[in-house]
Order: sequence, then structure tokens, then C-alpha cells
Amino acid sequence: MKDIKITRTKQSRLSSLDFNNIPFGKVTSDHMFSAEYVDGEWINYEIKPVENLSLHPANLALHYGQSIFEGMKASITKEGVPMLLRPEMHARRFNASATRMCMPTFPEDDFVEILKLLVGMEKDWIPPVTGSAMYIRPIMFAKDAALGVKPSDTYQFLVLTLPVGPYYSRPVKLFAETQYVRAVEGGVGEAKTAGNYAASLYPTKKAIEKGYDQVLWLDSEEFKYIHEVGTMNIFFVFNEKDVVTPAINGCILKGVTRNTAIHLLGEAGYNVKERDLSILEVVEAYDNGTLTEVFGTGTAALVAHVEEINYKGKRIFLSEDNWGASEYLKAQINGLRDGTIEDTHGWMVPIKEPVLAE
Ligand code: COI
Repeated sequence: MKDIKITRTKQSRLSSLDFNNIPFGKVTSDHMFSAEYVDGEWINYEIKPVENLSLHPANLALHYGQSIFEGMKASITKEGVPMLLRPEMHARRFNASATRMCMPTFPEDDFVEILKLLVGMEKDWIPPVTGSAMYIRPIMFAKDAALGVKPSDTYQFLVLTLPVGPYYSRPVKLFAETQYVRAVEGGVGEAKTAGNYAASLYPTKKAIEKGYDQVLWLDSEEFKYIHEVGTMNIFFVFNEKDVVTPAINGCILKGVTRNTAIHLLGEAGYNVKERDLSILEVVEAYDNGTLTEVFGTGTAALVAHVEEINYKGKRIFLSEDNWGASEYLKAQINGLRDGTIEDTHGWMVPIKEPVLAE
């Protein structure tokens, strides 16, 4: 990997952090990583105190949205070893998003090494509280100052780390959307790109006004097949053992936690299927008593219980008495993260004390 210039903060902000009360996304640790893409090459690898950026008003990302990101988490074991969960899968997804958005890829080995260095350096910011973690936010955006609609020639790659508590502190209520869509086949629904999240804000605001937390996105042709929740992928459990999550179809984010859930639940004896799932099938299963549990999975959300779905006024209520699969999954992931459950998949990447030049 290229040399990294390291500049340490003169005054850490860590002592002002209350680990038991961290609002999601509002507190960054002291340092961030930065690199620039110029003349076809990633250069200027640097770890430095978090600082404001200076952008030209004609910045292409601001105008046309050439911007992608990742979300991942670092945890700390009971013995004090920082751990990353499946960082190479996040690196691959980041580059898949970059390719779709006509941006340069970032070397995947460097991506993982940089995370190890930065998280190792910021390890005291990792909340040692179950359910909390250090959220890692890699982001890449266009840097050219030019208003022509074309791919930028220059880019910036940053990695922020943020101590976070749970994204959802209580079970969520979902509003199945039958007017607006998140993604269409052939679109950018599978990319973790800024515009997907911007497009979700208005329908989500409408759902919140109706008393719901999030939108349950359906397909754009028939408003029939379930896609995802936008902040997370979604799982349905029938008869306590049959687990279904919508199949990847170009419109759904390929969630890393989704993949982890499919593996862990399958290995625990659940019958897990990735397939098209109609909202009408869910309504029918609710009416005949076979829908037992619904939960979301995501890096930020981890495993979020769903307590209600509203589809065209039909209200589906889910009882916490049936949280078998979701509670099992949450306990497994938390156990992997704090090192109390053995990692038989090679998913956890421990971070040894980094040797850093000044
Ligand atoms: C994540 O789960 O990491 C996400 O990116 C979802 C959301 C917080 C934007």
C-alpha cells in the first residue's frame, strides 16, 4: 500500500463522549482517512483530524450526484481487540457501486488495510456496550469543478468513523408504498449511491406523517413484490421456521448483514429462501395465522424488529412473542462482534496494534 501521512489531533474530543447515549451519525471520532484520485491514480493517502472540506460551487457531485458510500461496523472484544466484520465484502460492494456510477474503483486490499489502520488508531472510540459499535463510513465523490454532465476526472475518498448506539431503539412500523418507488430494473437501486437515499426522503416523510417509521418499498411495475426498506433489507418468517427474503433483482441493495443472516439462520436449521415475495402473500399469511415474524437487517440497523406493516390500509401486526429468528440472529452477530461466539466463517478481522509512522 502507498505510504500514509499521519497527522494527529492536538486535542482529542473523546472525553466529551457519553458511551451510553450516542445519537446515530452525529459524533465522529478524532481522525479520518483521505485520498484523492488525480490523473488516473489514487494519491495523497492521509489520516488527519476530521475537518471541513473546501469544495468549488461547480463541484460535479453536488450537481449531478456522482457519490457513493459504504456502511460498516467495528466492534471490540471483551479482551479489547477491535474487530471488523466482513470488510472485504464491503470493499467489493463499494467498487460495484463505483462501477455503476462511472467512478474509479479503489484497491480492495488498500480499503481493508486503511480501515484497520484508522480503526486501530481510533479504537478507544469503539463503544464497549452490546448493541453499540463504531460505524465506519467510506465515501467517494466527484471532485471536478465543471458543469458538463459527464463523469468527473478527479475524486475524493474519505473514511469517517463514528461511535454509534442502535439505529432503531424500538420495533419499527412500515408503510408499504404504492405510489412512489425506490428503484427500477436497470436503475441504480443496487448501488449505494447518494441519490437513492435522497429519493426516499419525501415518501418517508409522508409515511412518518401517517405514524410510520419507514417505507416498505414494492416493485415499480405492479407495486406487488417486496423489495426492501431503504435503511435495511427485509425478512419474513412463516410458521416460525420458513424464512423468506426478497431475491436480489437489480433493485435491492446486496446487504452484507442480509448475507450474514441467510448463512446464520440456514445453519441454525431455519429454511431460508431468497425469492420473489408478493405483499399479497404476506397479507394472506397474516390472515391465516402463518406469518409469525418480520425483521430488517442492515449494518446500521443490525436486526430491527417490525411491529406493524400497513398495506393499503390493511394493518398487519407482529407480536414480540414470535421474535425467535430475529433474536437468535441478533445474539449471534453480537456474539461474533464481541468475540464470545466463535467465528467459524472467517468473517471477523481482528486489528492488532497498528505500527504508525508520524
Ligand atoms: C447502513 O446500514 O450502513 C446504511 O448505509 C443505511 C443507512 C444508515 C443509510
